[in-house]
Amino acid sequence: MGATPQEVTEIDAGGHKVVMGRHALRALDRELSVLHPTALFVLGDENTLRHCLPELLAQVPRLREAQTLSVEGGEKAKDISVCSDIWRHLAEEAADRQALLICLGGGVVTDLGGFVAGTYKRGIRCVHVPTSLLGMVDAAIGGKSGVDLAGLKNMVGVFHDPIGTYVHVPFLKSLGKRDLLNGLAEMIKHGLVSDAEHWEAIGAAALHDLDALRPLIERSAAIKAAVVKADPREAGLRKVLNFGHTIGHGIEALSWESPRRALLHGEAVVIGMICEAWLSWRMDLLDRGSYDRITTHLMELYKPYTFDSSENHRMIELMRNDKKNAGGQFRFTLLTGIGSAKVDVHITAAQVQEALEHYRLLVKDVISK
Ligand SMILES: NC(=O)c1ccc[n+]([C@@H]2O[C@H](COP(=O)([O-])OP(=O)(O)OC[C@H]3O[C@@H](n4cnc5c(N)ncnc54)[C@H](O)[C@@H]3O)[C@@H](O)[C@H]2O)c1
Ligand SMILES: [Zn+2]
Repeated sequence: MGATPQEVTEIDAGGHKVVMGRHALRALDRELSVLHPTALFVLGDENTLRHCLPELLAQVPRLREAQTLSVEGGEKAKDISVCSDIWRHLAEEAADRQALLICLGGGVVTDLGGFVAGTYKRGIRCVHVPTSLLGMVDAAIGGKSGVDLAGLKNMVGVFHDPIGTYVHVPFLKSLGKRDLLNGLAEMIKHGLVSDAEHWEAIGAAALHDLDALRPLIERSAAIKAAVVKADPREAGLRKVLNFGHTIGHGIEALSWESPRRALLHGEAVVIGMICEAWLSWRMDLLDRGSYDRITTHLMELYKPYTFDSSENHRMIELMRNDKKNAGGQFRFTLLTGIGSAKVDVHITAAQVQEALEHYRLLVKDVISK
């Protein structure tokens, strides 16, 4: 207790490093002196350029000569037309293969920037500086990049590792509560599938206390990095991270189609985790006490989401379209305890319906209180 946090820690995510700690940005400045790029570009969205760029430039003086590229905030920027604009801009600036792109933003900017960097002149180097919680613990680690196509998520993309991902937790000061909870959902998932102590610590942490959150963010980033390192191209082990995502993706897609509030990814994953924890119990993999603790915690933290039984059918159809459910078979990652998971568990559409029905009952219960 009371130990000073390490100033810089570096972990290996296989294809790239993840640099964390109080002085992570200073390490980036040092790295730039080694990389010798012929041109420097910082890509951000309207929010990250306003809230995070000044601090980035203050701590990384070598970036002061960089050109800034700005995109609109939000998922809309993950579009091929935005890539085209950036490619064209890079070409007009005569950026060569030794140019370097710094992606300063949430998952949208690192997915978009990673893709632009991975394809411009068959690949230039990039660095990720995540500014959202989801970016720090998930999206900016692992080298997956891409954009959406015709309303379908991540349809076009490449694996392109950054040189490094530099995690600077104070950027989160300006992030809204809804986006913090969005990232927290993935951290809770990390605890549930692989680290019971992490799950307990997250449960006890106050979301607004960034000092308390810092070691938990670093633990989650390390879990994601370790999984990616062991399975860089999603051959098997990465599936452990799909817990909550099979049903979660269906609910996320359904929420976009409906006139009700569209869910953020993490919010949908929370509903997915409740349903899939319930399936874990139904399949005799998880004990009832653990299931109850998981559900109580998630229902306390996240707003209930109402949808009608008549929408079950559409949701199951959307789940079948998900590229991870090849052949229309549902293969779930389920929990075998708090902190351990089993991949490729076969689940029928009828069982999925039961799980959705169960969530609906929980919501009714909360609303009637
Ligand atoms: N590549 C991967 O492995 C991977 C993994 C998970 C998610 N993703 C992708 O990540 C995206 C979602 O990421 P996200 O939730 O970070 O969304 P986002 O990048 O849209 O960020 C959410 C919002 O917060 C704003 N923002 C970000 N940092 C801020 C800060 N410090 N202060 C103030 N505002 C800030 C952004 O401008 C945006 O409006 C999705 O497109 C998803 O597909 C990718
Ligand atoms: Zn996710």
